[in-house]
Amino acid sequence: MKVSVIGVGAVGGFIATKLQHHTSNSVQLVVKPNSPILLDPHLHLNNGEQPVSVSFENVTADLQDVDGDVIFMTTKSTSNLDIFRALSHLQHKTFILLQNGIGAESQLARYVDKTNTIIGAISHIKVSFDREHHRVNCHNQLFNCVYADASGDSSPDVLEPLLSHIFDDVQKKENIFAARFPKLMVSISCNAASLLFDACMHQLYQRKECRELILALSHEVITVAAKFGVTLSIEDIENILQLFEAPQYQGVYFSMKEDHDKGLALEVDGIYRSFIDLSRQVKVQVPETKKVLERLLQLNTRLSCST
Ligand SMILES: NC(=O)c1ccc[n+]([C@@H]2O[C@H](COP(=O)([O-])OP(=O)(O)OC[C@H]3O[C@@H](n4cnc5c(N)ncnc54)[C@H](OP(=O)(O)O)[C@@H]3O)[C@@H](O)[C@H]2O)c1
Repeated sequence: MKVSVIGVGAVGGFIATKLQHHTSNSVQLVVKPNSPILLDPHLHLNNGEQPVSVSFENVTADLQDVDGDVIFMTTKSTSNLDIFRALSHLQHKTFILLQNGIGAESQLARYVDKTNTIIGAISHIKVSFDREHHRVNCHNQLFNCVYADASGDSSPDVLEPLLSHIFDDVQKKENIFAARFPKLMVSISCNAASLLFDACMHQLYQRKECRELILALSHEVITVAAKFGVTLSIEDIENILQLFEAPQYQGVYFSMKEDHDKGLALEVDGIYRSFIDLSRQVKVQVPETKKVLERLLQLNTRLSCST
């Protein structure tokens, strides 16, 4: 089987390295035209155990060349529309969108043929990518994957073994909302607190202002998720915050804070706007999320003006 990985950064690099190291699948890397991986197609994975180094024979910067039977989408969701448009010719593929947020699967379904299967997936891994050394660094050992079919029916005989080569714990949910809402609660609440209060993951539970914002935003996600048949509780987010008290999370930030500091676009559409759209569909008010979105957009506008 051939697997393509579109977006070889932290998550894509992790997936590609694991597949290349542990399977006989042919792995195609899909990068941007300015990527150093085109000239030096090696990746290294540092996950706290024995470091792994692998090389790749198939690297492309042309989305028209994408030909995996399974295609992982691991770019930031800010690039989605351009990429989705460029993939509209593909048929009979299985797309796995391993991105944060909600709603990208139905967006992709509008661009590609109905013969494709679209899967949404999340993981609690925390990884970063050292561009200079082509190295993926793992900041935790939460190598889980929760996924669900969003359109079409995936074959468990193909997918489960593939995902099990990458992740230690693979779980299929009954629908895309059940797969996405639990992580969305973390993304919405913790990204906001991390960025607006300049707090690393370790500080999110300890600092009162972070905790209060996280609980207020989580409460809104819990209310909306319930309307979509997904049961979440405040204890779920409290348990996650307590995990962040471990020393390895000191000085490690949520991705939106990292993107902001690097001057990159923020994943606000995929995480906040899509959630607000869903809240409208089920007629639930989410004032705290809307306020936070405004503050994040103001920060981002100031950033664009100053660069
Ligand atoms: N990092 C984590 O720990 C983590 C954990 C769970 C979920 N996530 C989610 O996973 C997704 C990916 O995050 P990430 O941290 O892996 O991001 P990342 O490190 O920035 O990787 C994304 C990669 O995609 C590349 N890219 C952008 N546009 C592209 C295009 N048109 N064609 C090919 N490649 C393209 C980027 O290249 P450039 O750098 O040159 O732009 C970058 O190498 C996000 O939705 C994130 O929220 C991340």
